[in-house]
Amino acid sequence: MPARRRRPSKATPRAPDRLPRNSAPVPLTIEHVGGRGDGVATAKVQLADQWAPRDELFFVPFTLAGEQVLARPRQRRGGGVATDLLELSAPTIGRQTPPCAHFMACGGCQTQHMAPALYRAWKSTQLAQHLARADLAAAPLRPLVTVAPGGRRRLVMHARRLAAGLVLGFHEHGAARIVDVTACPVATDRLQATLVPLRRFLFDILPSGTSARLWLTDCDNGVDLLIECAQTLDRAGREAAAELATGGTLLRLSWRHPEDGPNLAAETVIETRAPVVTFAGIPQTPPPGGFLQATQEGQAAIIAAVFEALAGRTNTLDLFAGCGTLTLPLAAEGPVHAVEGDGPALAALSRAARRRAPGAAALTTACRDLQTDPLTASELAAYDSVVVDPPRAGARAQTAEIAAAGPPRVALVSCNPATFARDARLLLATGYRCAWVQPIDQFLWSPHLELVAAFHLGAPR
Ligand SMILES: C[S@@+](CC[C@H](N)C(=O)[O-])C[C@H]1O[C@@H](n2cnc3c(N)ncnc32)[C@H](O)[C@@H]1O
Repeated sequence: MPARRRRPSKATPRAPDRLPRNSAPVPLTIEHVGGRGDGVATAKVQLADQWAPRDELFFVPFTLAGEQVLARPRQRRGGGVATDLLELSAPTIGRQTPPCAHFMACGGCQTQHMAPALYRAWKSTQLAQHLARADLAAAPLRPLVTVAPGGRRRLVMHARRLAAGLVLGFHEHGAARIVDVTACPVATDRLQATLVPLRRFLFDILPSGTSARLWLTDCDNGVDLLIECAQTLDRAGREAAAELATGGTLLRLSWRHPEDGPNLAAETVIETRAPVVTFAGIPQTPPPGGFLQATQEGQAAIIAAVFEALAGRTNTLDLFAGCGTLTLPLAAEGPVHAVEGDGPALAALSRAARRRAPGAAALTTACRDLQTDPLTASELAAYDSVVVDPPRAGARAQTAEIAAAGPPRVALVSCNPATFARDARLLLATGYRCAWVQPIDQFLWSPHLELVAAFHLGAPR
């Protein structure tokens, strides 16, 4: 008789790095807080996927150095084991009451349990470790510029229409589930006030089972919203969108299908007034969902640091220029060439450039993929000052060309100290000196950190 074929199990297979849900809890003492904001502890234990006890590294969220905890192993991650915090037996004095009711469920923030002084020290320590890895341990590290709660002007949120309601919020820590969020203390008041009417609108227009991703931007004159959704917006949906905008909640609502990709212009469903952000007094309309620095305070600190790093410049190159956050202020004082890969952002910058007063310094732009097609050393020879502000992946190929060209002043702006450290080494290897590093904490209560670093070639200034 032929062997009976086993029917495939209907249960979702467990990811190979996930540990069984019923893994035994492990008592741990937290040794320090790591780069992702988790407490780190070591212990010799036998986990469910092992035959014998061995030394393991554990990551325990929402804990501080010195705390004793009970944690359930959840998943193998980066040479250690991510856990869920079950019990906190001995809290330390560095702990504060988290300001947000959604903390620990919502994946948006990781460190609201840290008191401010401890939080600032943790961020500075993380950066110092990255700098040491880049042979930048001796570079003057300036005090952290902090940003107050309520300053975040861009939110990327997720929504899912259920049969009985709507979930609008952020993903849960380490999971795909959306945590319903009614308030977000990092965000501006205007973004928070948008959530109630937005929730009602999404409930009305999305069919049950539909998901959407939302980019909310608090501009100078109101809120700009981009929705990415596989569903097309029908007539009733368009009428509801018009009502939402004319009611004063939004300036503009744009709609895009997930398969359209970021470079295809989103459809403007309704625009009551053009969204405006102002750089160096020049009004600018960013494309729907386009990049802006996360906070106004952080942006001001970045601009000030870039100006200082490039002091004495005569001809400036702005690489990864976005829609002109740095370009327009720099161009108020001298010629600038701005290069950016995102077509709609660059088009917005070019439009703003045409609005400048007659006789203003030259401002030219080019659309180019700087990761695959960086400006070459010979193209860079025309500039005495370069600012590089790449995405989190950094700008390895472009920095190598800058190092080869040797402009006297380079300002590296980064939202990822790890890729910054990698790229900075390329400059140091060709004789650049790091004059200072300015950390700017514009991603409050997250492990992310913004920084500007000044690199100079030649005699110290
Ligand atoms: C951190 S943002 C900085 C933008 C701008 N400097 C600012 O302060 O608003 C990084 C910018 O790099 C752009 N970018 C990402 N990948 C790129 C690539 N491969 N080539 C060129 N630009 C790219 C993004 O579109 C974004 O505008």
